[in-house]
Amino acid sequence: MIDLSALAINDIAVKFLWYFGVPFLIGLIFSLVLWCTLRLQKIQFSNALNLMNTIIDRVTFVSTFWSVSILVLMFLSILVFLVLGMCAQVMLNVNVLVTFLLYAAIIVIPSLTYYCVMDIAFNNLKSSGILDLKDWNYVKGGKLYRWPDATYRYLKKINWYENFLLKTKEVAPHIYQLPNIVFVSPSANKGRIEEKLYDLFPKKIDFILMDYSRNIDGKANTKSNGKFTYLEGSFDGNSLKANLAKVDIRFADIIMDIRGCIWYSTDKKDRTGEGITRVFKEYHRSLNMGGIIIIDAVKLRSKTITRNQIFYKCLNLVLGFQEVSTYQKIERFLENDFINKHFHKEIVGEGSNCLATFKKIS
Ligand SMILES: C[S@@+](CC[C@H](N)C(=O)[O-])C[C@H]1O[C@@H](n2cnc3c(N)ncnc32)[C@H](O)[C@@H]1O
Repeated sequence: MIDLSALAINDIAVKFLWYFGVPFLIGLIFSLVLWCTLRLQKIQFSNALNLMNTIIDRVTFVSTFWSVSILVLMFLSILVFLVLGMCAQVMLNVNVLVTFLLYAAIIVIPSLTYYCVMDIAFNNLKSSGILDLKDWNYVKGGKLYRWPDATYRYLKKINWYENFLLKTKEVAPHIYQLPNIVFVSPSANKGRIEEKLYDLFPKKIDFILMDYSRNIDGKANTKSNGKFTYLEGSFDGNSLKANLAKVDIRFADIIMDIRGCIWYSTDKKDRTGEGITRVFKEYHRSLNMGGIIIIDAVKLRSKTITRNQIFYKCLNLVLGFQEVSTYQKIERFLENDFINKHFHKEIVGEGSNCLATFKKIS
């Protein structure tokens, strides 16, 4: 353990410089070399790199969470001893705290540096078209591989599926009266939501599932009765009409896009909402008149999202959704001539069960 009373102020400063500076430099150099080699296309993004990125991401969250929690507890105990006037205990605890801080820095600082640098780097490589990480995040070893299972657990807890059936029947009774219904999920991932809805829904519905990512592990199986089909391959929701034509379907009655193609068609830097208009135009072409697009519309504050992410990544506890809903993401672009002219919007359900529906009216 480091004894602060035996060290001059210079020695303490040097120690901090070493324990914080060296890990920071290692993290920075490693990240920059990786960024450059990817940028110059000396290496390709691979399974191994994907796994390494996921592990570092997890280590960053877990080590930061526990280090900060322990430091806060130590800090509080020092305050208590200080208030009680127990000076010897205060000094001992300060020594323990500084020792812990220095050793924790060895893991926290390089992983945090990598996390921050590579977050910017990957976004930069994505926007310049060098990397397409959509196909990597959701495959085995990817950062979001376990995301759907966590979400499905939460949806089950809040009776999301039952509520979905109830609310969509309220807004679109005309669809449920049809003799045959085509239900399309353009970005189904593992397809667990659709599997559950298939069990609940009347059996006259044909479920068609697809996704942009082709290597999704453990996805729902196509059923032999022809009522539930997960198409094999990579299908971009931006070409939904052509995708449906491949299985001889001209129009859909329901398009359910939960944190999928629409969600991914915009980001914080987006000023025009061009991507959203593109997807809505494509979905409009793919829908029957009176057909509906359904998206998730829970309203979440960024504080809640951060809390949910921390609890999930550090303690594997699912307290709620870990990202903004599709509706929240696209809301600022909804005063849009195309969408206003061709769709009637309705918000149904409450809290985590909230959905937004867009009915094709022209
Ligand atoms: C967060 S997951 C959601 C999956 C599913 N809808 C759910 O709620 O469980 C997002 C999925 O959208 C898919 N995706 C993203 N952009 C897409 C696009 N342009 N076309 C089709 N799928 C897309 C991803 O591959 C991923 O599987």
